[in-house]
Amino acid sequence: MKAEQAMPSVIERQWPEAGATRVPYWAYSDQQVYQREMDVIFCGESWAYVGLGVEIPNPGDFKQVSIGDRPLVMCRDEDGTVHVFENRCAHRGVKFCREPWGNAKQFTCPYHLWRYDLKGNLRGLPFLNGVKQQGGMPDDFRREDHGLDELRVSARGGAIFATFSATAESFEDYLGSTFLALYDRMFDGRELTLLGYTKQLIPSNWKLMFENIKDPYHASLMHVFLVTFGLFRADQQSAIKMDETGRHGALISMRGEQKTTADNAEMKNLREDFKLNDPRLIDPVREYPGQETVVMQTLWPNLIVQQQSNTLAMRQLIPRGPEAFELAWTFFGYADDTEEMHLRRLRQANLMGPAGLVSVDDSEIMKLSQDGISPYPEVNGLLEMGGRDTQDTDHMVTEAAIRSFYDYYCRVMGF
Ligand code: FES
Ligand SMILES: [Fe+2]
Repeated sequence: MKAEQAMPSVIERQWPEAGATRVPYWAYSDQQVYQREMDVIFCGESWAYVGLGVEIPNPGDFKQVSIGDRPLVMCRDEDGTVHVFENRCAHRGVKFCREPWGNAKQFTCPYHLWRYDLKGNLRGLPFLNGVKQQGGMPDDFRREDHGLDELRVSARGGAIFATFSATAESFEDYLGSTFLALYDRMFDGRELTLLGYTKQLIPSNWKLMFENIKDPYHASLMHVFLVTFGLFRADQQSAIKMDETGRHGALISMRGEQKTTADNAEMKNLREDFKLNDPRLIDPVREYPGQETVVMQTLWPNLIVQQQSNTLAMRQLIPRGPEAFELAWTFFGYADDTEEMHLRRLRQANLMGPAGLVSVDDSEIMKLSQDGISPYPEVNGLLEMGGRDTQDTDHMVTEAAIRSFYDYYCRVMGF
């Protein structure tokens, strides 16, 4: 028996007439909106990131993961196939997997000890035939009807995505040609290595994280580190790309110099007097075709694929109610990295994560955003930098990628 998807509730909210150039502040705090997001965005017709294959390299390896606020288990069976199950016993709903990760031959629910194999089949249950000819399951009980609920899985280039939908297009079609090319640029078939995790609970709505990464406007102004050391700045060669639906976005940039010019004079956070004690912190080397040193992809609905110089990471968004989300970072490299490249990736990772020299600014600003927004649900935010359209651009002085996101968001949510 399959779980029935909850029908989205009717939301008595009207998106502003001005469309994606405005975001009503209730969208960041309304419980009904949040619930519909879980139903139609995270658990709807989308492919959501769940993990890297290298996190569960061997048969029997498993890890607890989630999409939206739904707990899942990702595991590798005896044949090497990756499965993603709802972490919910088919008997009476217990979250049967309790260890964050591990290796198992089977999963046993702690309540009445129902046992499932690594493909999610119910293999056995105590008292199936009763005790002393008493009790037991009805004669027509069929174990094969009571396996774990499984999601569709797509593994490409070492990353695992899953969908609750039986009808969603293939993962490749879901990305579209532009984003498939950007994706394959990093996930080019080489074996990945896991470098480490960081995780943080950010007291803001999950969409503020996507806005932040789709917002190159702030990067040139707010981040002292990025601006000063020329890692990402509006006077550098850059591009913003969206897929055909507008749901995915990419910020692409090439590194500039630590020098004040007429083009960056308004960037008051460019500090020519700042010097790094260890310049190796930002010594990017080219490792992909092309000159791009920053490629940040936001993949609907829950993933940021990060290449900032040689720091490669998956940042997964796990909403925790309308006003909080977990940001789970998984740093990785390639199995054929030299020791020098391995150390370079680890050094550059100091820019990222909860205490990262760059991303600590974003965590703080998202909290301040939520603090400013929450008391005023009837007020709208403004998104008109770079015009009112949602087209690709070859510069960073625009909020087009955020408009594009909300344009698609409104269509999915029915606003
Ligand atoms: S709830 Fe899992 S065995 Fe009963
Ligand atoms: Fe930022």
